[in-house]
Amino acid sequence: MSSTVDLTSADVFDIMHTTRAMRRLKPDPVPDDLIVKILDAGIRAPNGGNAQTWHFVVVKDAAIKKAVQVIYKKAYDEIIGPRYSSAAPPPGSDEAKYHRQHVAVEYLTDHYHEAPVWIVACVNHSEGLSEQTSLIRMAGASVYPAVQNMLLAARALGLGASLTTRHMCFAEEADAALQLPAGYLSYAILPIGYPMGNFGPTGRGSLKEFVSFDRVGEPWDVLK
Ligand SMILES: Cc1cc2nc3c(=O)[nH]c(=O)nc-3n(C[C@H](O)[C@H](O)[C@H](O)COP(=O)(O)O)c2cc1C
Repeated sequence: MSSTVDLTSADVFDIMHTTRAMRRLKPDPVPDDLIVKILDAGIRAPNGGNAQTWHFVVVKDAAIKKAVQVIYKKAYDEIIGPRYSSAAPPPGSDEAKYHRQHVAVEYLTDHYHEAPVWIVACVNHSEGLSEQTSLIRMAGASVYPAVQNMLLAARALGLGASLTTRHMCFAEEADAALQLPAGYLSYAILPIGYPMGNFGPTGRGSLKEFVSFDRVGEPWDVLK
């Protein structure tokens, strides 16, 4: 990754550095072949035991999206919104940037259902995964790598997307609105569409803030 961001680059590091949550999306339709390409990138991801218990639902049905948006907004109003209002900006951000993020989060909350296509990432829990809590906790680890592959693929194709999980604040209600069959649980919803704004670099803290050497808290002198 060079110091200036090349938004046209297909280099994997440039793609990773510019895959941001794109929350403002045009309602224009997205060609199905691009969605297929995204899904095909998704299933290249690692997953526990290669069991591939994942399942991806491509949702375009306006009534289903609206029913889930109502739940997504309820979670914002009751749980997430108040936290946003009181939280400090995260590393690599500042008051102004955090405010812009908050506004974008509110925008997506109101327009969630207007994204032309969603990919709902599910795990089929009826296939092999035991009822043991520890194994259930691992289930997400087998679907989020696929989700990240899909976000990177969308970015590479010039499509905006974001990883959203807030519907899980009311998970059972949301899965019912998604009309998932018994045994299937949703782990993420990716609203996808052509972005209204521009791609840009992700805002993160410096590596030094997040990396230790040998023991937590001990700096690694390789990182200046
Ligand atoms: C586990 C997880 C859950 C998330 N859920 C939501 C969500 O429900 N709604 C949303 O707008 N963004 C959600 N995000 C996106 C994050 O807010 C976003 O990655 C973060 O603010 C960094 O944004 P940036 O990549 O644009 O810098 C989620 C991200 C992760 C990793």
